[in-house]
Amino acid sequence: MDEPLSTDSYKGVRDFYPADWARLSAIFARIRETLSHYGYEEYNASPLERAELYESKTSEEIVNEQTYTFMDRGDRRVTLRPEMTPTLARMVAAKRRELAFPLRWFSIPNVFRYERPQRGRLREHYQLNVDLLGVADSKADGEIIVIGCELLKALGAADKDFVIRVNSRALLDNACEAAGVTAKKRYMHLLDRKAKMTPEEYSAALAAITQRDPLELINGNAEPIRDEKKKLDDFIAALAASGISNVVFDPLIVRGFDYYTGIIFEFFDTSPANPRSLFGGGRYDNLVALFGGEPVPAVGFGMGDVTLLDFLTTHNLPIDTRASRPQLYVGTPNVNDLPAAQKFADSLRKEGCRIFVNLSDRSLGDQIKDAVKRNIPLFIAYGSDEVANQTVRMKILATGEEMGLPVSELPSHLRSGS
Ligand code: HAM
Repeated sequence: MDEPLSTDSYKGVRDFYPADWARLSAIFARIRETLSHYGYEEYNASPLERAELYESKTSEEIVNEQTYTFMDRGDRRVTLRPEMTPTLARMVAAKRRELAFPLRWFSIPNVFRYERPQRGRLREHYQLNVDLLGVADSKADGEIIVIGCELLKALGAADKDFVIRVNSRALLDNACEAAGVTAKKRYMHLLDRKAKMTPEEYSAALAAITQRDPLELINGNAEPIRDEKKKLDDFIAALAASGISNVVFDPLIVRGFDYYTGIIFEFFDTSPANPRSLFGGGRYDNLVALFGGEPVPAVGFGMGDVTLLDFLTTHNLPIDTRASRPQLYVGTPNVNDLPAAQKFADSLRKEGCRIFVNLSDRSLGDQIKDAVKRNIPLFIAYGSDEVANQTVRMKILATGEEMGLPVSELPSHLRSGS
């Protein structure tokens, strides 16, 4: 006989059983609701893109080492999107004349990166993308950061649970130029890793790139970077004035993509149990122009579900999944009662209630156990007595408490308990 097929999923991706998906869906529902309050509209696209979309201006590391790229049957090179920003830029460029700028758009795509699976890093994740296009002023950067904060708060977080580290590509560029660094990308890559290196390791790696460390110009607030640093300080002060004070300047924030042109930022968890970047983004004013036409200024961020779930778990922030679960289990004393129970369940569904009906010939006791196993909070038996009397006994499974009530009162009861 053949070996049975493995039930394992592909390495680094997840299966979402209903309870897992209910958690993620509840988070997305909260996110969608919050973003709708700010006038952000949801868009979507296929995960398949032409490979060339990523090859000109995103990130060498991602393109060369992390994309899933293959030939289709018509010899076209196809990439499973590793991020959404190039797709967004392509979509905006394609319809730039018809769209009403500024655009406030969001999407929650699944994205794919061939990474070594580890805490916070998988090969497929869902990534909320929130972007504001068409506004060059730093008010837009501010709005995007405010939204990042509001999303975390809508999920139960407090200001003290996270910190926003901001830097500026323009500042880094100026500093590199003033220090005479020619291998700018190599230098930025080194900065990105600096926090994890010893001073000796850093000095050795630095010596291979430049005589003069641009970071010293930044830390010394030297003349060539002073203007950009002032802009950043003003930006942080403006955020503080609008009530967001957990923002700090961090010259080591680099971000992996080449397309950033201005402010870059990352939200970090402040808990020592999860000292990690939660999500990040920045301003990318030249990406849309890669598709021709005038540049469209843009700023936004990507927030992954993996790091977000770790954050919520670290801070014990519960996710309410009740809205996707049945509220009531309708049991049947006898298999002959099934048609009447179905009919009764249908009448409750018309009232907007979420009902699970027994389908088995198990005893009522076993049906109650089944309801508990399924995490359904309420149970009633519905048979000939209930049809005749039009009253039911409702059991609250968490406490074992029971109450009698007329069937007509059941819907309002279920609605109030949600
Ligand atoms: P990114 O920093 O590469 O930016 O990804 C954004 C977020 O996605 C990360 O902070 C993290 O939460 C999550 N993430 C990234 N890679 C993985 C992974 N392998 N496993 C799990 N989660 C991951 C971007 O992708 C930019 N396109 C974001 C952006 C939007 N910038 C402007 N607009």
